[in-house]
Amino acid sequence: MYTEEMQKSIKKVEETRQQRMENEPRRMSAEEKEELLKGFHPDYREEGFVEIKVGPNKGQKIPVELGKLLHSNSRILNEKIDLNQVDYDVDVLVIGGGGAGSSAAIEAKEAGANVMMVTKLRIGDANTMMAEGGIQAADKENDSPVQHYLDAFGGGHFAARPELLKRLVMEAPDAIEWLNELGVMFDKDSEGNMVTTHGGGTSRKRMHACKDYSGAEIMRTLRDEVLNLGIPVVEFTSAIELLKDDKGQVAGAVLLNMETGDFCIARAKTVVIATGGAGRLHYQDFPTSNHYGATADGLVMGYRAGAPLLYQDTIQYHPTGAAYPAQIFGALVTEKVRSLGAMLVNSEGEAFMHPLETRDVSAASIIRECSANGKGIDTPIGKGIWLDTPMIEMLGGEGTIEKRIPAMLRMFMNYDIDMRKEPILIYPTLHYQNGGLEINGDGFVAALDNLLVAGEAVGGIHGRNRLMGNSLLDIIVFGRNAGKAAAKKAGEVTLGNLNLDHLQAYEEELKEAQVQTDDVSPLLLPRYARHER
Ligand code: FUM
Repeated sequence: MYTEEMQKSIKKVEETRQQRMENEPRRMSAEEKEELLKGFHPDYREEGFVEIKVGPNKGQKIPVELGKLLHSNSRILNEKIDLNQVDYDVDVLVIGGGGAGSSAAIEAKEAGANVMMVTKLRIGDANTMMAEGGIQAADKENDSPVQHYLDAFGGGHFAARPELLKRLVMEAPDAIEWLNELGVMFDKDSEGNMVTTHGGGTSRKRMHACKDYSGAEIMRTLRDEVLNLGIPVVEFTSAIELLKDDKGQVAGAVLLNMETGDFCIARAKTVVIATGGAGRLHYQDFPTSNHYGATADGLVMGYRAGAPLLYQDTIQYHPTGAAYPAQIFGALVTEKVRSLGAMLVNSEGEAFMHPLETRDVSAASIIRECSANGKGIDTPIGKGIWLDTPMIEMLGGEGTIEKRIPAMLRMFMNYDIDMRKEPILIYPTLHYQNGGLEINGDGFVAALDNLLVAGEAVGGIHGRNRLMGNSLLDIIVFGRNAGKAAAKKAGEVTLGNLNLDHLQAYEEELKEAQVQTDDVSPLLLPRYARHER
């Protein structure tokens, strides 16, 4: 499967393998990291950003592609929508069918609320499903939530909101327990103890996994629980704008049936935005590891209604997306591959960095190796770096890859690449939005009554870079909390008459800022989606 040139480079990788295994590359100093990030991380490319012209974050910078959506018209600006014709009337409306939305719906239902989930694809079509390597929790004797906090706070450049990060790490052991009891099949040893590994930037082995399909296993379990509890799930239906009432409270959402194109009204006493990430906006033309529906819809809806963003200018590029073959370009190659011992190696067979630096540092280092250092490996669609996977079998014993990362083995085997015997080619892929809507410690948007946010749509939990395994964790911790808080608040809310006045106000702000566009948002599906209607 590899070209002749690639095979020549593989020879060099093989020649240096033994020596590399005996001398692990050193960690970078703080100064080296800073210089590297400024020079090579995409967050520092000025041309990748624009200034926000309207709304609560006016004047701040935002990725070009997301800025375009915030500077677009509402999909219903010129539509006649009868707000008296209420199609769904619930206590809690959960927007999004991934891990955060499902956790919120489960807890809201358990708290006695009348809850409904709406999702533009199917329940489980979400980044949760695509997560591979694991979920962090400090639940072993040599570890503590404080240690977890310090790792995540440092990894996020000391920018995480302390009240959010504290909640994340303190409630992590309980989140694992909850999932375990719901039926998630975590990797365990013969005594029944959870098997845990390191991730980039962790000082203790606290990554709990289900082989390398941790997210799929967690999502399977959550979806079953939602369905078993009889929670109504309205699929193939997008929330496209939030509704407010005449007291200015958030009061539901306008929905779009993706199959018929019809609009409907969901009135709700509290709303949880759990719409996930933005990978399908392909910032700076990067490929993505994200699912098909990751188009930042919740950020757009929330922002139009007046919810501020936090850290919208910081994006996570996972260091190891598949770079070859083209059929899997950008697909996630889990960090667990490096946790199990594989090193990053350039075309000359050199290990140019420690394999478990934090993600932003690793991605920038790979980009530098392929650009300024000229030591990337040419592929038909770009460049890549070797991930020396045969080291895993040498370090962990024969059969380790099949046992611990079977999904990776299968993905490459489909293209006749046996990662047990040959290294694989990787390059950074757009993986996660570090920023999102700003919430307080209880999950509420402070600027708007009755609106909560959970999961990847939240900004501030991880600061300006997230560690592996803290996203599967945050969807559970903040999803559960949002569900409980939304149910409790719903009991105290009386709604007034519905309106969409905020859309008109936003439109006027766009006009004042001289933003002229025919584009509409939220995007809902990637720009390359086929629209057959
Ligand atoms: O590399 C991974 O398995 C990804 C994990 C994460 O983003 O937390």
